[in-house]
Amino acid sequence: MSFFVVFLSFALFVTSALEDHTEVKVRSGQNVTLHCQGPRGLNITMLEWSKPEFNSESYVFFFQNHRLYENYQHESFKGRVALKDRSMKDGDVSVILRNVNINDTGTYSCEITTRMKERVVHEVVNSINLKVTDSGGFVEWHKMV
Ligand SMILES: *[C@@H]1O[C@H](CO)[C@@H](O)[C@H](O)[C@H]1NC(C)=O
Ligand SMILES: *[C@@H]1O[C@H](CO)[C@@H](O)[C@H](O)[C@H]1NC(C)=O
Ligand SMILES: *[C@@H]1O[C@H](CO)[C@@H](O)[C@H](O)[C@H]1NC(C)=O
Repeated sequence: MSFFVVFLSFALFVTSALEDHTEVKVRSGQNVTLHCQGPRGLNITMLEWSKPEFNSESYVFFFQNHRLYENYQHESFKGRVALKDRSMKDGDVSVILRNVNINDTGTYSCEITTRMKERVVHEVVNSINLKVTDSGGFVEWHKMV
């Protein structure tokens, strides 16, 4: 029995160090970077981070014309999301999500719109599965058993 307790605690407390870009695990209360790399050398005119369960006018992060549109941001993300690199230099459109909680668990997709002269391209760059674990891991273990 004690073997299983140790094993389960280990699984709950150790966040995955695997370089799998689609799966990110973090403990409640932490800050997490959601990585997204757009093309280099193009002007990124619009950046949308969204969750599939939100309607089309609600985003995790909506950035256009060099600024954040808080009106389009879902209530639960207001004041918690910022660009990792404000200049989006070299196409880095990663964002940092602060103080995560279990309700942040889910899929995040990164979409950009680029413009080169008259050519406007909209693309989904990648998506991330975020798994937020309870910071009181022992409590969660009891619930699981
Ligand atoms: C999260 O980021 C904020 C602002 O950058 C910082 O003040 C805070 O200490 C960070 N929290 C953790 C748990 O690292
Ligand atoms: C998560 O969502 C539930 C249901 O909407 C809510 O009751 C709870 O307060 C939320 N937890 C946090 C940490 O925001
Ligand atoms: C990006 O925008 C700047 C300023 O609007 C412009 O000078 C430049 O030519 C654009 N670059 C590309 C690749 O379209």
